[in-house]
Amino acid sequence: MIDLVVGGFYGDEGKGKVASYLALNDAPAFSLRTGGINAGHTVVFEEKKYPLRTIPSAFVNRKSKLAIPPGALIKLDVLFKEMDETGSKNRVIIDGHAAVITEEEVNEEKSNKFLSGEVGSTVQGVGSAESKRILRRLKLAKDYPEISGFIKDVPLELTKALAKGKGVLVEGTQGHLLSLYHGAYPYVTSRNATSSGVLSEVGVGPKYVGNVILVFKSFITRVGAGPLEGELSPTDADKMGMVEYGTVTGRRRRVADFDAELAKDVASINSATQIAITKLDIRFKNVNGIKRYEKLPSEAKRWIEKIEKEVGIPVTLIGTGEDVYDIIDLRDEKISGR
Ligand code: GTP
Ligand code: MG
Repeated sequence: MIDLVVGGFYGDEGKGKVASYLALNDAPAFSLRTGGINAGHTVVFEEKKYPLRTIPSAFVNRKSKLAIPPGALIKLDVLFKEMDETGSKNRVIIDGHAAVITEEEVNEEKSNKFLSGEVGSTVQGVGSAESKRILRRLKLAKDYPEISGFIKDVPLELTKALAKGKGVLVEGTQGHLLSLYHGAYPYVTSRNATSSGVLSEVGVGPKYVGNVILVFKSFITRVGAGPLEGELSPTDADKMGMVEYGTVTGRRRRVADFDAELAKDVASINSATQIAITKLDIRFKNVNGIKRYEKLPSEAKRWIEKIEKEVGIPVTLIGTGEDVYDIIDLRDEKISGR
């Protein structure tokens, strides 16, 4: 069965943390990360912080094989650095059709005034590489001898494992509202970050999808330009403790309050089966590190229950801190047949 972890707002909802917890708890045979190096996932595990742009956050489970799917975009220096930092070199496989970004694409984006200025792109070369891939002008993973030892047909490996009943965890990048097809174009990213988009990057059909876990943060953040309904002033965001800086760019993220109506539409389009809410500890300071729902103060419970009711999908995972294990897991209670 495939579990898809996707972002519900503008990215940075904490998919990395949710995926790393699921990897440790559910022990999937394969874990994948889709998308490119413009998205940063942060994993805090055993007192160490790992900012990741290529390696799946699931690396924390040393038994899970890590796969880079055909739809992903990698950069070789980032790949090698992260394999070293995570000690995962011996269990990474890369599909030959994954796109490879070089300095050329990064420089193209840096000098593209519309992208770097108006759109506020992270200028990591992802859009430029993606456009060249579509024009059949890009070199892919199979064309680089230095990674030939990692190349495997990822969709085929996955379908073989799935047919045997093994688990596959897919970590999406960015979020629904940044999607090329669904966001406020042109203030979007160069790919479709929804559950269906992510699955197409993995390259297998929908038959094996078991869960679509849609991740929301307890408030909304956005990097880059474009509309942000209900945007808070930096001073108000400060007062509420909702201050964040981008993993890749270091830029301060723009902030708005949680929007349940918006969340409901996004859940519907993504066919979400479960919702994860991260950073409850930023909204309610007294929930830090809590791992059992009963221990939450009643105001925090009320807030979660209200969202669950308004969105209409069970809230199964609740983040209460940065660490992988700072999480409340309600799946056994809320999902029948587990
Ligand atoms: P993108 O693919 O770029 O969208 O990233 P992402 O969804 O993986 O999120 P990212 O790691 O960029 O940002 C989330 C931040 O919140 C990270 O710094 C995490 O360590 C942190 N985080 C995640 N969950 C929680 C939580 O429940 N509480 C707290 N305090 N921090 C959290
Ligand atoms: Mg991020």
